[in-house]
Amino acid sequence: LFKEPADLCLKGLQVLISAGPTREPLDPVRYITNRSSGKMGYALAEAARNAGATVTLVSGPTQLPPPGNIELVRVETAAEMYAAVIARAPASDIYIGAAAVADYTPTVMQPEKIKKQGEHVTLELQKTRDILAEVAALSRRPFTVGFAAETIDLEAYALDKLVRKNLDMIAANWVGQTQGGFDSEHNALEVYWKGGSQTLAMTGKKRLAELLIGLIAERLRVKAPA
Ligand code: CTP
Ligand code: CA
Repeated sequence: LFKEPADLCLKGLQVLISAGPTREPLDPVRYITNRSSGKMGYALAEAARNAGATVTLVSGPTQLPPPGNIELVRVETAAEMYAAVIARAPASDIYIGAAAVADYTPTVMQPEKIKKQGEHVTLELQKTRDILAEVAALSRRPFTVGFAAETIDLEAYALDKLVRKNLDMIAANWVGQTQGGFDSEHNALEVYWKGGSQTLAMTGKKRLAELLIGLIAERLRVKAPA
């Protein structure tokens, strides 16, 4: 009895992954960003490549080395990430939104360095486009997987995002804790899809990525049998 090797579960498929933080400029020398290291997205890109997929990684600024045999598209802002992802999504079989995209960006980017002013200043920000929701709304859409980073009520918020953004799957993780999440080498995920869920217990991000890629391949096969 031979089982299909798990390491080729995405053979022949196009996988698009976004990773890392975005950087929203305030002026030529300052920006707003977040604590994402990009490690989870890069580990997913490598796991998908190892599973036989052709992988494109759209990455915000990270300290990570470019993975081998993966097309790397470097971006800085949420708007640049949106354009890079939307252009490639219709030709992809799977999209995994693992980036920590800024929810708001400065309304204006000041062309000169902002000078020190009074005791208090107010920044005006405007909402960015939701890349994940817009990919899921495409008429020719890939199997769409989101992440949910939460500090409270993980399951309720994750299920709300799954439904509201019309995703095929969502991987939720606790952030802002001592173990796991954004800055860490380790993570744990609660994965939800319509009609099911699975816990992927705390482990290294590389192993966790392999497990999530396996789960995506399994759900994709259920949704669109070969
Ligand atoms: N996301 C995105 N574009 C944005 C904001 C978020 O594509 N402008 C994606 C993230 O890549 C992630 C998912 O949406 O896959 C969820 O991100 P998260 O920050 O947890 O959720 P939000 O919908 O932004 O809601 P909130 O920050 O209020 O929890
Ligand atoms: Ca957000």
